[in-house]
Amino acid sequence: MNCAERLVRLFGSQAEVARRLRLDRAVVSNWVKSGYVPARWAMEVEALTSGQVSAFDVLTEANARKPIRLKSRPDGESPYGSPLTGKDAMSDFAPAKRITSFHPPQRTLMGPGPTEIHPRVLTTMSQPAIGYLDPVFVEMMEELKALLRYVYQTKNPLTFPVSGPGSVGMEYCFVNLVAPGDKVIVCRNGVFGGRMIENVERCGGTPVVVEDKWGEPVDPQKLEDALKKNRDARVVAFVHAETSTGVRSDAKTLVEVAHRHDALTIVDAVTSLGGIPVLVDDWGVDAIYSASQKCLSCTPGLSPVSFSERVVDYVKARKDKIHSWFMDMNLLLGYWGATTRTYHHTAPTNSLFALHEALLLINDEGLENCWARHQRHHVALKAGLEAMGLKFLVKPEHQLPQMNAVVCAEGVDEAQVRRTLLTEFNLEIGAGLGPLAGKIWRFGLMGYSCRPDNVMLCLSALGSVLEDMGYSVHVGDAEAAAHAAYAAMHAKAAQAKARSSRAKAAA
Ligand SMILES: Cc1ncc(COP(=O)(O)O)c(C=O)c1O
Repeated sequence: MNCAERLVRLFGSQAEVARRLRLDRAVVSNWVKSGYVPARWAMEVEALTSGQVSAFDVLTEANARKPIRLKSRPDGESPYGSPLTGKDAMSDFAPAKRITSFHPPQRTLMGPGPTEIHPRVLTTMSQPAIGYLDPVFVEMMEELKALLRYVYQTKNPLTFPVSGPGSVGMEYCFVNLVAPGDKVIVCRNGVFGGRMIENVERCGGTPVVVEDKWGEPVDPQKLEDALKKNRDARVVAFVHAETSTGVRSDAKTLVEVAHRHDALTIVDAVTSLGGIPVLVDDWGVDAIYSASQKCLSCTPGLSPVSFSERVVDYVKARKDKIHSWFMDMNLLLGYWGATTRTYHHTAPTNSLFALHEALLLINDEGLENCWARHQRHHVALKAGLEAMGLKFLVKPEHQLPQMNAVVCAEGVDEAQVRRTLLTEFNLEIGAGLGPLAGKIWRFGLMGYSCRPDNVMLCLSALGSVLEDMGYSVHVGDAEAAAHAAYAAMHAKAAQAKARSSRAKAAA
């Protein structure tokens, strides 16, 4: 049954469908006769039927019956000189390959990000474009800021998504907080601490580096010592969740140490936000940035940031001109600030719709439940990986649930393992970076990718590939270990629930 017939069946008659869509009956009758609903009605049909006839079905059917064409051929003389037509028109610019619409394969994304995206978020992103100053959009921006304050656990009014990936959020913080000549303490225990050092240098600041081994958390004592030796340091920067190694640092303690020495803090929460607690107000973080494509499970290209009032005052009081026009906080306040909405740059509207929906999903689930889900599936994945004989890089007490780094199995070509997982199982996992390249695999369990079906697929696929390559694993052991871990967690949760019901009944 085509979508037009499904609509009529749902609402009983063509007249009723027409009434509900505020259309002439002849239009609906024409849909039924031609056997499809035109593409432009896809979203309204989905909304009207509460998803029983999905926009996707309408679009697929309409496109098959009447593909949308944007082609036009000038009649006679072209206003642009000789026409760019003919079969070789592209040959000067592109390889000799026919270019058609791009359809990415369906992959399971268990690398360091991006993650899979929830269908609700994908659907929202495909809604019609509207202007970035449209009153409807402006209302949505306020909700988006509130949702971000929730995931960041902050009341900071200046909490919003910067247009650009996590690297732009990072740069945004440094450009605004670091003036030429400023001394900045950067804690480095992986790739992204290294990028922070680059940022300090490019802002004309002087970095003082506190080094920790890759795979170990930042040592608060080393930070304390560096601050004692550098009393003029104005800013301390560190990565909360180091994606390159899967280690979690103690952000609360590091911020406390920095504040004892009157330094402001810049915290990288790219991989932590949404996956583990990030408590901006409770910890007193001054400036923080994240990215949309990790535990928030949205399309890449947005970087949620949050700044304390202290930072806003600090930046406003700067005497020098901030050297990036695009990133100058004082200018961007005109678009994202509390009161005004003036043009700064063209905001990526459809990506922002998507972020709004991705955050709404976290709100629906509950932030604590979202953190707990990451922990639960990490425990199961870890049980499976360890049952295969693989060792984690990071000590258990510092492991991130959303980023599991394990030492590669001995005697196998690690790149070939990743290639085979991708080509045969459509499963992406991450490689090691920098000094860990070729030595570790990184298994991400972030956001919408953090699901039991992904855990089980990953263990079976990896076991099968490793066995094929001669590594000694008992097929099925890893899955059994993960199942046992899930069963133990379910039993514990059921006992806790029973205890709390008994306590409630007794009260
Ligand atoms: C900890 C950390 N910081 C910063 C970045 C940079 O983010 P993006 O790739 O979105 O620019 C990443 C990316 O993986 C990251 O993991």
